[in-house]
Amino acid sequence: MESVTLTINEQQVTVPADYSILEAAESMDIDIPALCYDSSLEVVGSCRLCVVEIEGSDDLKASCATTVAEGMVVQTESEKVVSTRKEILQLLLDNHVNDCLVCEQAGECLLQDYAYRYDVKFREHDGETRERIVDTSSPYILRDEAKCILCGKCVRVCEQVSERQVLTFADRGFETKIAADADMTLEESGCVSCNRCVSVCPTGALIDKRNMEKPRSWEVEKEAITCNVCEHGCEFNLLKKDGKNIGVEAKAPGEGRPLCLKGRLWTEFENVEEVEEPYLKKDGKFVAVEWKEALELEEVMDKLENSAN
Ligand code: FES
Repeated sequence: MESVTLTINEQQVTVPADYSILEAAESMDIDIPALCYDSSLEVVGSCRLCVVEIEGSDDLKASCATTVAEGMVVQTESEKVVSTRKEILQLLLDNHVNDCLVCEQAGECLLQDYAYRYDVKFREHDGETRERIVDTSSPYILRDEAKCILCGKCVRVCEQVSERQVLTFADRGFETKIAADADMTLEESGCVSCNRCVSVCPTGALIDKRNMEKPRSWEVEKEAITCNVCEHGCEFNLLKKDGKNIGVEAKAPGEGRPLCLKGRLWTEFENVEEVEEPYLKKDGKFVAVEWKEALELEEVMDKLENSAN
């Protein structure tokens, strides 16, 4: 692969010619804020938070969607860049629920991190704000529309698995939102509770419900564990507090790793000390089931019981 040399924040770097500016900056440990970008997802360049200034160009460019070029000179934190980022963050906060003190995502929320980094705060305003619709229908995922910043990562990660594709953008303009199937609750929709969407959501719009009200993010240690239910070998994080295994969460899937509810439940059952009851969807409703059913072991267990009698 051909390479190019460019200058970012007064330092020269040589990278493959197909790199984006954001990837080149990452290779130099320069952190450009990015809300809609994820290296395993299609690049859409929609949030504009990653904008940078390029010498000779009047407009700021989205660094995630702009390919490097030979001799390019880039500033990632110029006055113009910082003031644009502040405006974007302010508009996002203006339409966001001000409950960071009690939000489950606090400590792991990119919007919170960037607002802190650029000193942007919630403010009083009389403009319209997003209606607060909280979907509590799933025992695995809590969806809070008012915390959604429409980065679309959940839609892109859901559509990577062809038989899922449950989440989509719906409506237009200010009414734009993320919908499950034809604007259904997660319980009514075809959602299979794989939690791929939760693993990439940068805010508290999608939360792993089974880990809610457990210790705060900064109190938890995470250990990567591999699911051994099938050949995909999906990865989960085992959540630990004070040496005790308290939960499991889906790790960002990357292309090709489907994650699935059965794998998650197996991983929980094998590792978590006080495991909560499992739920499966039956006739469009979540119902609590026994572990042997959740793990699809009923037939084996029945055979074992019969052979013991
Ligand atoms: Fe580049 Fe969103 S991260 S536009």
